[in-house]
Amino acid sequence: MSSTLLDAPASAVASSTPKTGPHLSYDETEFRECFHKQPFLIQHSLCDHPLFELERLLQLARDLPENHIEYNAGNLPLTVEQALTPRNGLSVEETIRRIESCKSWMVLKWVHHDPAYARLLEECLEQIRPLTEPICPGMRFAQAYIFLTSPGSVTPYHIDPEHNFLLQIRGSKTIHQFNGSDPDVLSSVDLERFYAGRVRNLEFREEFRQKSWVYNLEPGQGLHFPVTYPHYVQNGDGISVSFSITFRTPDLDKRRMVHQFNAGLRRWGVTPRPIFQSPLSDLFKYQAVRVGTKLSNLVRRNED
Ligand SMILES: [Fe+2]
Repeated sequence: MSSTLLDAPASAVASSTPKTGPHLSYDETEFRECFHKQPFLIQHSLCDHPLFELERLLQLARDLPENHIEYNAGNLPLTVEQALTPRNGLSVEETIRRIESCKSWMVLKWVHHDPAYARLLEECLEQIRPLTEPICPGMRFAQAYIFLTSPGSVTPYHIDPEHNFLLQIRGSKTIHQFNGSDPDVLSSVDLERFYAGRVRNLEFREEFRQKSWVYNLEPGQGLHFPVTYPHYVQNGDGISVSFSITFRTPDLDKRRMVHQFNAGLRRWGVTPRPIFQSPLSDLFKYQAVRVGTKLSNLVRRNED
């Protein structure tokens, strides 16, 4: 896989008239061909939006519950065990105010709990829903995140569970993305650990490097991340602010439950049939986990 889009503006890859809406613009043909299969660039008009000014972000950080904010040292290697990620020794507010020099990585999670950000998220998703529904119907659980990172920070190699568009608001970052449907890159065991054990970070192997899609994301550009496609991110020379708009669809729940069932089999010493090889086997596993989860919730409620 080659990095054909490195340094290329989104307009350079447009093959038909771009659709322009209030916040996002994208090539419809490319969107239909690539969504949920491979990364592609879009464009947005949010760089000067007041919700991303420093004082507004500080206010947001003060208003969010503590568990909505995660931050740590940003000068990390590509492979880091999640639990061992070093902190930066600063408060949230200090980290934001000193983001230019404090070598940190910060994420404000679920910022749609603030109504203004919820409205913005909804307006963005409203624009892409007509194109995502025919491919992955049932858009739901919309969530938004804001990433603030110091110059040169690294986000280690990891996977995420949602459909995602990362909109670059300020500064630049280089994103290396890898094909999550290639079992040589992302194995069944990796996916089982992710879905059953919530292990996001993965071990990066040098032989992957030649398989990466590489994007230099500049302000005004956005990038699609297909679900569980591994990636790592290197910040440019300035402060970076990115807005991540995400959502889930019911097919992802099925996929998660099949991997959870397979993780259970593997714990019992059985090598499971990988997902997508037998629709009947996948259906059985999905129903087994679904019913099992409902029963255990019922028992738990009765015992409370
Ligand atoms: Fe990510």
